Amino acid sequence: MKALIPLAISILTLSTNLTAQPTTDELERGRYLIKVGGCNDCHTPGYSQSMGKTEEQQWLMGSDIGFAGPWGVSYASNLRLTVNGMTEQQWMDRISAGGLPPMPWPALQAMTEEDKTALYHYIRDMGATGSAAPAALPPNTAITTPYVSLDPIFPEALAGER
Ligand code: HEC
Repeated sequence: MKALIPLAISILTLSTNLTAQPTTDELERGRYLIKVGGCNDCHTPGYSQSMGKTEEQQWLMGSDIGFAGPWGVSYASNLRLTVNGMTEQQWMDRISAGGLPPMPWPALQAMTEEDKTALYHYIRDMGATGSAAPAALPPNTAITTPYVSLDPIFPEALAGER
């Protein structure tokens, strides 16, 4: 019987952790990671140009300006919608799966489990809002949105223009 007590305690702790509400510290950590991780530079239109003055309620709502390159065209997702449609486990799996450039997948994947969890809770706490960013396009597809070209231009190609 005595041997069962620690087991009972650990089951109890596990179940409270699973249902635990995010703490203020965790939300603060999530906000901090979004800021230092530069996530708003792509996922929040106008953030970079305003030197980070965009209201926090407007953060992470995604962009319909594409990033075109050899991978086709990618669009910075509306993370408020992404996270609110996912369990914590699906969030972890989504990060591990990775995706298209220029999303800094390796940087996000290198975060600790705790940091990834803090991001999940912080973004979820902001609430789902805005509309979904356009779906990514494969290479050689007609682009119907504004986009930024990330294809490098080599000096030889410019030579004739000088
Ligand atoms: C340089 C621009 C850029 C930056 C900076 C950036 N992202 Fe992204 N992000 C993107 C693009 C583009 C996509 C779409 C990628 C794809 O289609 O695979 C994306 C997709 C994602 C997705 C997948 C969303 C979904 O619905 O599947 C997550 C999660 C994500 N970003 C989180 C972050 C976080 C967290 C940060 C900050 C640490 C960040 N991003 C910084 C451009 C960026």
